[in-house]
Amino acid sequence: MNVDDLRLTFPPKRARPPSRNDWPCRDHKKLVWHPDCGSDLAEFTRDLAPGRAGILTDIHLTEQAERHNAVGVGGIVVYIQDIDFLPNPRLGPGGRLTAQADDAAQRGERLFTKPFPHDPGLSCAACHIPSAAFVDHQQRDVGSGGLFKTPTLLNANSNAPYFHDGRYDNYDQVVAHFDRVFGLDLGSQDRSDLVAYMTAVGDGLQPYEPDGVIPRLTEITDFASVLSTAIPAHDTEVITLAVDTVGSELCELTERFPAPKNTSVSGGWDERRLARAALKGLVLCLRRIGLAGSVGHFDEAATE
Ligand code: HEC
Repeated sequence: MNVDDLRLTFPPKRARPPSRNDWPCRDHKKLVWHPDCGSDLAEFTRDLAPGRAGILTDIHLTEQAERHNAVGVGGIVVYIQDIDFLPNPRLGPGGRLTAQADDAAQRGERLFTKPFPHDPGLSCAACHIPSAAFVDHQQRDVGSGGLFKTPTLLNANSNAPYFHDGRYDNYDQVVAHFDRVFGLDLGSQDRSDLVAYMTAVGDGLQPYEPDGVIPRLTEITDFASVLSTAIPAHDTEVITLAVDTVGSELCELTERFPAPKNTSVSGGWDERRLARAALKGLVLCLRRIGLAGSVGHFDEAATE
């Protein structure tokens, strides 16, 4: 995913910080991290877990967040760059529907690329370019109160409410908006076909990673990669955050392997012992990184 898609912008400071139980600080669709959000930067970053890319069309970091932790923000960006869209079996190469999509969606796809009657240079697809993740990287005025960057339609089924201010609850309302603003004169069949198409495009398998040791470890490793930015940058605060978060995740994972002493489980003694030992080794290594980082021994932290 292109970082440009994330709209890392810095909105004007809020008059009043959000209350601590208002987490994640949600302002319509925007995810906002703020020191008063009731979560720390590490927790916030974890909320951006792989598979939630559909929700990440807007990430706003407050000015304060940026000053507070410029390097941490860099780390988050690195982490987010690895997040990709969820797989969607109804979409093939070039953003074209596959045979798995039904007839209504197929008809909707044709409408999506059809030139608008009053402006033949324009179509839905002219802005939401199917072969380019349904964006054109431009700010457009679609009669919603100003210029807004064209949002992606991939994995958007889980993104309601729609538009920058969350004014629409569903695709029917969005299609009615475009119909009205661009004078499309769509019949009810056209509208429902477009909605079927949006739904096919906006689908995504497994909104959350299946739970298990391998996906958990992958996620932990991704998160730990923040360290490769924070250590060279000598950012003690981020190092501590990452070490704490990854450490507690690893400990939790270790506990999933019943201890060899545990008599309620039989068998797999060697495997359990090895798994626990390997994870414990990682936890200890992390602690050394944390310690070295906290006292300014960044070279030592880096060699770990
Ligand atoms: C001129 C460029 C342009 C055209 C043409 C266009 N869109 Fe959009 N679309 C946008 C922009 C910009 C937004 C965001 C508006 C906002 O946030 O206020 C948007 C928002 C959306 C959304 C909501 C996505 C979200 O996550 O909030 C959907 C769905 C959508 N468009 C579908 C369509 C369909 C269907 C058509 C054709 C009938 C269409 N668009 C035509 C630029 C365009």
